Amino acid sequence: MNNSLANSFASQSDFAARRARLAAQLGPKGVAIVPTAPEQMRNRDADFLYRHDSYFFYLSGFTEPQAWLVITGDGQTTLFCQARDPEREIWDGYRLGPQAAPAALGVDAAYSVAELDARMPGLLDGRDAVWFPFATHKGLETRVDHWLGALRSRVRYGALCPEQQRDLCGPLDEMRLVKDAQEQATMRRAAQISAGAHIRAMQLSARMLRDGQAVREYHLDAELLHEFRRQGSQCAAYGSIVAAGANACVLHYRADAAPVRDGELVLIDAGCELDGYASDITRTFPANGKFTGPQRALYELVLASQQAAVAATRAGARFTDPHEATVRVLSQGLLDLGLLTKNKVGTVQDVIEQRAYFQFYMHRTGHWLGMDVHDCGAYTEPSEIGQVSERKDPLSGDIIRDRPSRILRSGMVLTIEPGLYVRPAEGVPEQFHNIGIRIEDDAIVTDTGCELISRGVPVDADEIEALMRG
Ligand code: GLY
Ligand code: MN
Ligand code: MN
Repeated sequence: MNNSLANSFASQSDFAARRARLAAQLGPKGVAIVPTAPEQMRNRDADFLYRHDSYFFYLSGFTEPQAWLVITGDGQTTLFCQARDPEREIWDGYRLGPQAAPAALGVDAAYSVAELDARMPGLLDGRDAVWFPFATHKGLETRVDHWLGALRSRVRYGALCPEQQRDLCGPLDEMRLVKDAQEQATMRRAAQISAGAHIRAMQLSARMLRDGQAVREYHLDAELLHEFRRQGSQCAAYGSIVAAGANACVLHYRADAAPVRDGELVLIDAGCELDGYASDITRTFPANGKFTGPQRALYELVLASQQAAVAATRAGARFTDPHEATVRVLSQGLLDLGLLTKNKVGTVQDVIEQRAYFQFYMHRTGHWLGMDVHDCGAYTEPSEIGQVSERKDPLSGDIIRDRPSRILRSGMVLTIEPGLYVRPAEGVPEQFHNIGIRIEDDAIVTDTGCELISRGVPVDADEIEALMRG
């Protein structure tokens, strides 16, 4: 991507407004330093597809590598970026360059990144606090030390060195946690594209099996990627999981070459990244388009648990409420279906308190979603962090420190992704062995509930079957 403002839903003024909101939190004499991400070598001289830093992009909309923002508490922004270089641009593509940057990005000043070390001490001079993201960019602390050292060497001549170093992730994470209208629009579109890709993968699987063709996980992976790119997404937001049969019980399985067999389920967890924003959808479907009895029974249970979680997602609820709702439904269902037996594990309340469900459901029901698939933002309520309680985990015996969970607000975006993963084990009915199911949707929190932005692909078992017949 070589766009200077690489987000079709956001304009220069949206990024300027974010910088102004951040500046207001730095203190009048504060200054923030925000680098973009480094380029990464993959092997020998081949590099990974470049991906900008999410904080940097959030404040600039600028996607070129080797760029830095310096924002002062009085709202002035300086950009350092690659200088124009006709020879390099023949090889690597267009560069915006410092001359064009103020008009293109709305920054107040721009210089070549080659001038960074020379200019930074001057930008820090007279500031009381220097803010930068802690523990995110390798070597950044050392560079800040170097600039402060250079400034300190001039105190004899009247230079004033900032006395405080502060973590910029604090204010930026809070800002990013509540998505503005432009971000929500981008995420809706990303989810819509991903939903279309899931539909295509489902339909391809059924069609190939109907036609007697051998299907492998990579066929479905290719279908997803084709649809992502065809619709203008830049890439997958994370490594796609396309897991046939028992592979679905491996939580971090990646699309590989295993055969997709008639009669088995396929779990696909895949989402595109669009203009810097992730989507994250999981669907589980019968490879041939028709659920078996045991598959459907487990599927309906996971879906019911997701519905309970969706119903618990609204402004004012806690982040953990959807998880607790999910666990309650799954625990009851595991007893009802005989995966857990009452005389061994007791009542549904015992299953929850002793975490007996953990054998089949071992992850949380969601996470924040945004520019990063596991997006930034505190999961504890900032106003209540002092309220710590301790308890003993029933399975590990570890002491767990609980702090009150985050209170959801309109505009926060999270995933809702319950699942069940049944590995063969003694006492587990054989008909359920090796079935792995997850259903994952992306939700924007609203005052009265949540908006599921990924339902362009159905979750209802009958609707999935109908879609796969088509
Ligand atoms: N796809 C990553 C996740 O669901 O968390
Ligand atoms: Mn997820
Ligand atoms: Mn996922």
